[in-house]
Amino acid sequence: MLVLIIILLQCQFSRCLLSTAVKLRPIDAKTWINDNVRVLEPSVKRERNPFGILVPLLGKGCDVTVDWDDPHKGAAELATKCFERNAADGEVVAVLVEALGQFRNLTVEEGITATSFKARIVATRGSIGIKCPRWHYDHVPVRHIQALVGPGCDYVVSENGVDRSVLNQADECETERINRHVVDTTVADVRRGREGEAVVLRGMTGCDRPAVHKSPELPWWQGRILMTLDIM
Ligand SMILES: [Fe+2]
Repeated sequence: MLVLIIILLQCQFSRCLLSTAVKLRPIDAKTWINDNVRVLEPSVKRERNPFGILVPLLGKGCDVTVDWDDPHKGAAELATKCFERNAADGEVVAVLVEALGQFRNLTVEEGITATSFKARIVATRGSIGIKCPRWHYDHVPVRHIQALVGPGCDYVVSENGVDRSVLNQADECETERINRHVVDTTVADVRRGREGEAVVLRGMTGCDRPAVHKSPELPWWQGRILMTLDIM
């Protein structure tokens, strides 16, 4: 019963959280919206989130990593490991195949030579899902971040209100305070990935001004299943 109440609360409050925490704006599909952020919306609009069947993972947590070079094989292995059974839900696998394929194609577009990739799916509930609470950039050429369930990552799409001089400094400053210093949210254009939406961020080795981003703040009841794709 308690689990049911938590899931209902999550459904009720997640939209509320998304609509109030940050400025949300509609974004065109498949476009770089600046030098370092690209948003990939699913090619098929679905009535329901097919990854809803993964929600039971939230109770016990899950952290699955798969090395892949073929999107179909990679997606199948990911799904099998997540569901702990073979022949996982076809719709879920189809979405994963699309995501892995898009990422592989994107690396070609970017002129990146890559023969192998890594996919990771992590299921969490509450603050455990806040892996990177501080504004930062990644030390990779590009990274695909997609919330299969729950909110995506927060990212900024212009330099307004951003102070890069203190980014990625590993000092003892309190996260909240240094976050206010790095990104002035009263003027910065901060956006948050929507459930199901993939955001591709250029990192430090992929451009001059790597994408500034962080994990969203999450209440204790918020379930989140996050997939990240990287180049090996
Ligand atoms: Fe990151």
